Amino acid sequence: MGPRSMLKMLLDPMGGIVLTNDGNAILREIEVTHPAAKSMIEISRAQDEEVGDGTKSVVILAGEFLQAAELFIEKDIHPTVIVNAYFQGLEKALKIVNEMSIDVKADDDKEIEKILKSTVATKFVSKWGDFVCKMAIQAVRKVATLKNGHQEIDTKRYAKVEKIPGGTIEECTVLDGVMVNKDLTHPQMRKRIENPRIILLDCPLEYKKGESQTNMELTKEEDFKKALQNEEDEVRKVCNAILAFKPDVVITEKGVSDLAQHFFLKKNVTVLRRLRKTDNNRIARVSGATIVNRPEELQESDVGTNCGLYELRKIGDEFFSYFVKCKDAKACTILLRGATKDVLNEIERNLQDAISVARNIILNPRLVPGGGALEMELSCRLMDYATKEIKGTMQWPFKALASAFEVIPRTLAQNSGTDVVKRLTELREKHSTSAGAFIGIDGNDGKLVDMKVANIYDPTAVKIQTIKTAIEVSVMLLRIDDIVSGIKKEKKEKSKSQMQGAENPEGETVLIYCINLYIVRRCQRWIIKIIHIILNSTN
Ligand SMILES: Nc1ncnc2c1ncn2[C@@H]1O[C@H](COP(=O)(O)OP(=O)(O)OP(=O)(O)O)[C@@H](O)[C@H]1O
Ligand SMILES: [Mg+2]
Repeated sequence: MGPRSMLKMLLDPMGGIVLTNDGNAILREIEVTHPAAKSMIEISRAQDEEVGDGTKSVVILAGEFLQAAELFIEKDIHPTVIVNAYFQGLEKALKIVNEMSIDVKADDDKEIEKILKSTVATKFVSKWGDFVCKMAIQAVRKVATLKNGHQEIDTKRYAKVEKIPGGTIEECTVLDGVMVNKDLTHPQMRKRIENPRIILLDCPLEYKKGESQTNMELTKEEDFKKALQNEEDEVRKVCNAILAFKPDVVITEKGVSDLAQHFFLKKNVTVLRRLRKTDNNRIARVSGATIVNRPEELQESDVGTNCGLYELRKIGDEFFSYFVKCKDAKACTILLRGATKDVLNEIERNLQDAISVARNIILNPRLVPGGGALEMELSCRLMDYATKEIKGTMQWPFKALASAFEVIPRTLAQNSGTDVVKRLTELREKHSTSAGAFIGIDGNDGKLVDMKVANIYDPTAVKIQTIKTAIEVSVMLLRIDDIVSGIKKEKKEKSKSQMQGAENPEGETVLIYCINLYIVRRCQRWIIKIIHIILNSTN
């Protein structure tokens, strides 16, 4: 974790490799059988889907919270007491996070870029940080729309990442439109059209075949001809209905028969077929067209005219259709270039993180200090609160929760290679006054710095989600009876084996007992005689 984090190379059983330092991507690849471990992986995935960042932090925190709870379970404090303390701690922690949050201007790209840099700084692409941050902001701004007075940013659906191996990272761009990996259905169709009229369909442009097996019994040759003619007429009718609107580009999600291609080619119309639904939706967003199911019911308003240029370009061995120079495009394609597929995959993951963070900041423009400053402040203030306000047994788990937050600055300090104990003591001391609330650890050299000066911030939404998920999952696991009894059983077994001697297995003990019994029985008479002699002599 942090700016000094290293990539992991994961090998899968099929021989493939994954190169990443993204928490979710690592955990997704590893195989675990323990159900509790599975739920830890699940929270990392949930974190990735919800806010896109903090997938490592959430697992580290949850692990630390559980470890803190283990001590109390061993001391026979009932899990519900711990759970109550954790929930109270969560409530208080969220309040502190909100108090510590600072506002940013959501429409100031420069400001957002600065913040994104601290997200990207912990990643493989940190060398190209500025570049990646700019791309992320550009993509998010493109996709943002106002819906019922609310800002909606659906980057998953409308910002598509296309990865093409080859080229350099500097060649990556955010298109002002979209690009799809599709070639023309016929090589003689137009490859470059300015201001095209675009019609989008999700029906096939061929004679409809029967859904299940269809038999036609024809006795005369004319009947066969008639059947073929019917098919042709049907296709012609559909094509004419489309051609009546004078389109330049016709795109369908289904197939286009050779005959239909012929009709379109004659009128100089470019056709693309078998597009994915998601790609079609994006083209609809950028061109202003409506996806139509019945060509007979086409209307002028369904034709898209917002696209400035259609062009077929060749990259490497493949052909790509570009719909660019769009007026007010509300979708985009992010074109990634890089040396190999593994590099491209990691760039994509990093970019997705940056995009999610940019989206979070625009939707909720509040920030908290990074570099462990927030966690240390939480730890100190929760500890204070526990001493003053919480009475009884619950105080101890509450305090344990408070000190568990220190795991984040501790890990950052550890990874930076500095003296962990010394740095943490210094940091704790700084946070004992309100002036030091923003002091954290610089992940590169391990020194204490003011996060405002170092400009290391995390979005409040990410941190809130991290803390909530980590506490909730540890509470959930603590509530499981079996895990609790599992720890107790271990303890009992430990004490039993200590009594018997660690290397004294049960079988051996029984054997020794039997031998003893045999010797006593055999020598019984002798023993009685000896006792008699002793008694007589004493008399
Ligand atoms: N330059 C820096 N110095 C110190 N701490 C930093 C720096 N940059 C980021 N951090 C801190 O590092 C933590 C994030 O680390 P990282 O991005 O490696 O993990 P993550 O966000 O939990 O997981 P992932 O990014 O894989 O989803 C945050 O707490 C952040 O405040
Ligand atoms: Mg991160």
